[in-house]
Amino acid sequence: MVNKVTSAAVIGLNAYKVSVETDVLNGLPGFAIVGLPDASINEARDRVRSAIKNSGFTFPAKKVVINLAPADLKKEGSNFDLPIAVGLLVEEGVLEEEKIKDCAFIGELSLDGTLRGVNGVLPLILGLKEEGVKNIFVPQVNAVEAALAGNVNIFGAMCLGDVVNHFADVQIKPTIIDINRYLTDCAKQEYIYDFKDVKGQQKAKRALEIAAAGGHNMLMTGSPGSGKTLMAKCFASILPPLELSEALELTKIYSISGLLSSDEPLMTKRPFRAVHHTASANGIIGGGSSPKPGEITLAHRGVLFLDEMVEFPRNVLEVLRQPLEDGEIVISRAKHSIKYPAKFMLLGAMNPCPCGYLGDKEKQCTCSEFQISRYKSRLSGPLLDRIDLQVEVPRLTANELLNIVPSAETSSDIRKRVIKARKIQAERYKNEGILTNSELTSKLIKKYCQIDKESADLLKTAVVKYQLSGRRYDRILKLARTIADLDNSENIKQTHVMQALQYRMSNQSG
Ligand SMILES: Nc1ncnc2c1ncn2[C@@H]1O[C@H](COP(=O)(O)OP(=O)(O)O)[C@@H](O)[C@H]1O
Ligand SMILES: [Mg+2]
Repeated sequence: MVNKVTSAAVIGLNAYKVSVETDVLNGLPGFAIVGLPDASINEARDRVRSAIKNSGFTFPAKKVVINLAPADLKKEGSNFDLPIAVGLLVEEGVLEEEKIKDCAFIGELSLDGTLRGVNGVLPLILGLKEEGVKNIFVPQVNAVEAALAGNVNIFGAMCLGDVVNHFADVQIKPTIIDINRYLTDCAKQEYIYDFKDVKGQQKAKRALEIAAAGGHNMLMTGSPGSGKTLMAKCFASILPPLELSEALELTKIYSISGLLSSDEPLMTKRPFRAVHHTASANGIIGGGSSPKPGEITLAHRGVLFLDEMVEFPRNVLEVLRQPLEDGEIVISRAKHSIKYPAKFMLLGAMNPCPCGYLGDKEKQCTCSEFQISRYKSRLSGPLLDRIDLQVEVPRLTANELLNIVPSAETSSDIRKRVIKARKIQAERYKNEGILTNSELTSKLIKKYCQIDKESADLLKTAVVKYQLSGRRYDRILKLARTIADLDNSENIKQTHVMQALQYRMSNQSG
């Protein structure tokens, strides 16, 4: 007789139901697993055999065949140990097939029968929930993460014996959590870097506030020591808290990447990913032989910070263009392609020239014009087109640093304005499936970024004068929309368009 046990496998960020079929045949004792298993599933054979024996049960002394169906889906990871063991225990008569019919099982077994945590639990549970599965057994360490899915019974088990006992006499208590508590807790979080410690730099600070409010990309150009890195670090402290839907989406990403900590099962902070220019293209974009989300996906709904941006290999910068436009990245595989979300804010910092002191008040720039133009050309026009806010950050002299009194405004003050502007956007776009102005498509720009005749004339003049592309035109309108939202103004006024233009024209030739 063949018995079937339900489990699941992840592809991209989605999960599919997998049926673990167990058949025990007469013949020479053996243990085969079929259905495109990768190496870790083959190792499952040894783990399952030992775990069953060490939990006090017998392993069938016959020919055992396990099939993971559907066979054409590539399955990875060790989360099939538990369902395989359950199938074998059904064969042995320890568990009844009838009783486990509407249950699913996920978990890696160690040789002594204890259950180890696995990656990707939240997407697995959400996938199974969608398929109508009501009861799911997971390793105890993954139980809280699993329970984030809501409306499904999660049973966290310490070991294989716990699962068996649950169906006999000692039932496991389902794990239930209050998801909103995690989100409220995160509102109290503290930040190390605060804008109250940044002197002067009003223009850059204002631009960062606009970037945070509308989810816009931004580039800071300035001499070494002008505070670019410092301000980038402060940026995290003015980002709005995550919406629940965003928190769950991010948790899925961090879960499949194995980056969730067990004491923080829900991602409650917007990610701030500072990436070094020596990072590999796969590491930044995502991919590899068994594809994993890259930094642009780990920065989803948060910030991807590229310090010393011109030092990044040109090919890496160029592949950023497509996700910057689409908010997602498609990784092509032999049989199927995987889509990962990548709606990140790009925050870049760079020197104005190779020596770093072009335009500095005190130090003389030693670069030739050719060197400067070659340096700047490392960021291509199409890439710059996608960076809505471009600001110069002049270095403060030692005297200025000593004498400027810092403004009393804290990050928390700025954050309040950012949150207010985000609320306005969320309300306006509640039926459009987006959260911020930066996500507006051309069609939605026409609907939500109407400007009066004077503003339109102003923009037209700028388009001609600075030879702006159509893409830039759209982005100026989105930026003006955010500036108007920060101003609590329903209409985009001329002053908003003028401000938006000012962030486009600095630091670029055309
Ligand atoms: N506007 C500023 N206010 C306060 N400190 C500053 C400012 N600009 C620079 N500094 C100081 O200089 C240090 C170097 O700044 P940094 O952010 O590393 O510069 P950059 O990345 O532009 O080279 C900072 O850690 C900070 O101590
Ligand atoms: Mg720096």
